[in-house]
Amino acid sequence: MECFVFYCKTLHLSIFESAIINSMTIPDEVEIRPLRFHEIPKLLKFRSRNDYYASGDMATVDSLLHFFLKAIWHRHRMRTFVATREGALVGYLSLVLGRQRKQRENIYIVSTAVSAENRGQGIGTLLFKELENYAKLRAVKRIELEVFSRNTGAIKLYKRLGYEIEGVKRHAVESEDSYDDLVIMAKLLN
Ligand SMILES: CC(C)(COP(=O)(O)OP(=O)(O)OC[C@H]1O[C@@H](n2cnc3c(N)ncnc32)[C@H](O)[C@@H]1OP(=O)(O)O)[C@@H](O)C(=O)NCCC(=O)NCCS
Repeated sequence: MECFVFYCKTLHLSIFESAIINSMTIPDEVEIRPLRFHEIPKLLKFRSRNDYYASGDMATVDSLLHFFLKAIWHRHRMRTFVATREGALVGYLSLVLGRQRKQRENIYIVSTAVSAENRGQGIGTLLFKELENYAKLRAVKRIELEVFSRNTGAIKLYKRLGYEIEGVKRHAVESEDSYDDLVIMAKLLN
């Protein structure tokens, strides 16, 4: 309970949001914080194991180098928040701010995942709350993401967090024997 109060205070949650999280059992030892530079290799391995989209992508030297360079080049636009439990990486959320001047008030969620054994415990929700705190500091007006249409669990979570479906990109991604649709979802911040 003490831990729950700590989270609500540090993440500035509304009473309603707090009640949702309270109905889940948040593990005491979960910490949400920005990714540290030296953790990039760990993050890439985690992504290839747990991310719906990147699963199967290998954490190769190429992809590592690519991520490092992007992290340096786009350091003012890119952020990754991680969730750690007893020091181990259990979740992350990567975002990028709009590149063009007229889109600087937009955030695009690049990817997010929580490790299978830690799902359904409120960690994803906490990552999204951290994202919103960051968005408010940056005066962001719109947060956008894309999700596979068959990922109904994630869509349900995003709807609960206030994201609305804006459209569908049909046959956007190759799958084993066909194509997958991507659903575009967004939340407007006041
Ligand atoms: C989507 C995801 C990040 C949510 O993280 P989480 O820590 O499980 O989320 P929370 O515990 O805060 O919220 C749980 C909600 O997430 C949804 N969810 C999606 N997949 C889930 C799973 N495998 N197990 C439990 N909940 C899941 C459910 O709607 C659940 O809502 P409910 O509690 O009302 O049933 C996580 O399930 C995940 O990593 N999934 C695989 C990767 C993925 O789909 N990433 C999103 C790509 S857009």
